[in-house]
Amino acid sequence: MNVLVTGGCGFIGSNLVKYLRRQRPDWKVVNLDKLTYAGNLETLADLEGDSQHVFVRGDVGNRELVEFVLRQHRIDAVMHLAAESHVDRSILGPEVFIQTNVLGTQQLLEASKAAGIKRFLMVSTDEVYGSLGPTGYFTETSPIQPSSPYSSSKASSDLVALAYHHTFGMDVVVTRCSNNYGRYQFPEKLIPLMTVNALHDRPLPVYGDGQNVRDWLHVEDHCQALLLALEKGRAGEVYNIGGGAERRNIEIVRGILQLTGKPETLIKYVQDRPGHDRRYAIDPAKIREELGWTPAHTFEQGLEDTVRWYVDNRTWWERVMSGAYRQYFETQYKARLAA
Ligand code: NAD
Ligand code: DAU
Repeated sequence: MNVLVTGGCGFIGSNLVKYLRRQRPDWKVVNLDKLTYAGNLETLADLEGDSQHVFVRGDVGNRELVEFVLRQHRIDAVMHLAAESHVDRSILGPEVFIQTNVLGTQQLLEASKAAGIKRFLMVSTDEVYGSLGPTGYFTETSPIQPSSPYSSSKASSDLVALAYHHTFGMDVVVTRCSNNYGRYQFPEKLIPLMTVNALHDRPLPVYGDGQNVRDWLHVEDHCQALLLALEKGRAGEVYNIGGGAERRNIEIVRGILQLTGKPETLIKYVQDRPGHDRRYAIDPAKIREELGWTPAHTFEQGLEDTVRWYVDNRTWWERVMSGAYRQYFETQYKARLAA
């Protein structure tokens, strides 16, 4: 089996490429990635010399290139993860989110249709459902009500992928997962950002009252669910994937301070994110009952392992945070603390 993973140099994509190489050693994994600020080849250094992993630098929106790659490597299935993924950046500049997430996905679907791909797995997000109140869960039939430019671009691409199934008969499966955490996550998302700030003894900027809730999913559990959805999911279906670990942001920040041995005086409440979704929580009954998936990691152990990994892998995050990204980060960080 030959699989194209898009975005395989990002956080989830790199974990997925490695997971596939371990779990399906006879598969060829072709990794198409544009290497934006969020994609780093260094993350895949341990795959150097692995002839079953092929890296291609390119844009999912480049239909000619994608079609060439699909045919050249006789790709059977596509796992589509490439995206602009950070909500705060989508608020500062939505255009590239529409370009990559919406138009890029449509070009990739078109190339996949032309090349006769047997299965297209679209990795979407629980953010397409918008925000929950204090109770209830997202199911696959919850209304699509995205709030941010990021989540609306993901909702669009998710629905376009489903439209290619309904209209053109393409074999498409959509997954919508909750907040991932684990090694190799870019230090702009909550857990790695707070860990890195704590290690630098810098203030930890908590948005609003810190009471927003996310449902945390270990990236390895997510990879396992994606492989199951690829192999056993039913065409045209959506599967929600959640970690069953709802936590308030402030609890997580306190946990990170404890794990790094830093004082709570580093916590700084800052201006809220515009349009900030209050709570996400997934009902994973469908994927559990149909595909037999349940998460293996507990959040407390997973968080401890993740924080330890950042402590032990300073070189990785210092490198990925250098250059143009550092400039962006410093400007945003200072603006947030000053607001
Ligand atoms: P990430 O930002 O860490 O990585 C994205 C990768 O896509 C990078 O390697 C980047 O170089 C690549 N990329 C960006 N634009 C591209 C383009 N035009 N062509 C080719 N490659 C391009 O993202 P992530 O957190 O690993 O998320 C992966 C996918 O999972 C995304 O589709 C995201 O929406 C979805 N998702 C993420 C989470 C999460 O908690 N991180 C949760 C739900 C869904
Ligand atoms: O739910 C799935 C989504 O999870 C994915 O689709 C996105 O790609 C991924 O980035 C993530 O989105 P969030 O906006 O939930 O993740 P983020 O890590 O940016 O923020 C998590 C929570 O922490 C959110 O309530 C905002 C808050 N936060 C975040 C940052 C970066 C802070 O309080 N301070 C911060 O500095």
